[in-house]
Amino acid sequence: MQIVTPTLELLPDFVLALREGFAPGTVNPARVRQDAFDRIASDPVLYIAQMTDPEAAGPDVQLPNGQIVKRLPGMTKWMWDDGFVGMISLRWQPGTDELPPHVLGHIGYAVAEWKQRRGYATQALAQMLDLARAQGLGSVQITTTPDNLASQKVILNNGGVLEYDGPAPEEQGGGPLLRYRIGL
Ligand SMILES: CC(C)(COP(=O)(O)OP(=O)(O)OC[C@H]1O[C@@H](n2cnc3c(N)ncnc32)[C@H](O)[C@@H]1OP(=O)(O)O)[C@@H](O)C(=O)NCCC(=O)NCCS
Repeated sequence: MQIVTPTLELLPDFVLALREGFAPGTVNPARVRQDAFDRIASDPVLYIAQMTDPEAAGPDVQLPNGQIVKRLPGMTKWMWDDGFVGMISLRWQPGTDELPPHVLGHIGYAVAEWKQRRGYATQALAQMLDLARAQGLGSVQITTTPDNLASQKVILNNGGVLEYDGPAPEEQGGGPLLRYRIGL
């Protein structure tokens, strides 16, 4: 499995995964899935272009509480193993390992349900850490929830150290949150 830069050539397989129920995000998955359908239908070239956005040129982001914030520089890769497996994304603030308080971690990932429990997310995170290091980051934060044992294991498998166990920021709904840090 390799994490690859999304292209128009690979897009049909991604759309197939969306149709099968894959959601390319974890906060409000139904909304992110519908949003991906809509954006691909209206401009597939732009959709693919915005997957690689180191200058934060993409549109503003709406938080779960409705607040609109500026997008951070970022990139999304697709996990690919003879077909679409999942997605993993990285975002960062230039010049620092820290993030604005409303941002839940540097890295997010999701594996299609029918591809889970085969080590893909663990491998994808290892590969994304190399890209984070290449961006100049010295460490990354990754957040998950206490009930997401799979995600906790993915983080621990990659050297994550728990640094926060408490409520999420208000803008993100205030639910229980675990935040890990991985040194690069
Ligand atoms: C979290 C997620 C990305 C894990 O993907 P994955 O490819 O199945 O993960 P891996 O195969 O690398 O598994 C990592 C570990 O978690 C374990 N695991 C996987 N799914 C599990 C589950 N449902 N319950 C308990 N453990 C699980 C694996 O057995 C493995 O354990 P090991 O390290 O002891 O061998 C996937 O479950 C997913 O997409 N979930 C929905 C989106 C999500 O929650 N994203 C993370 C947001 S923080």
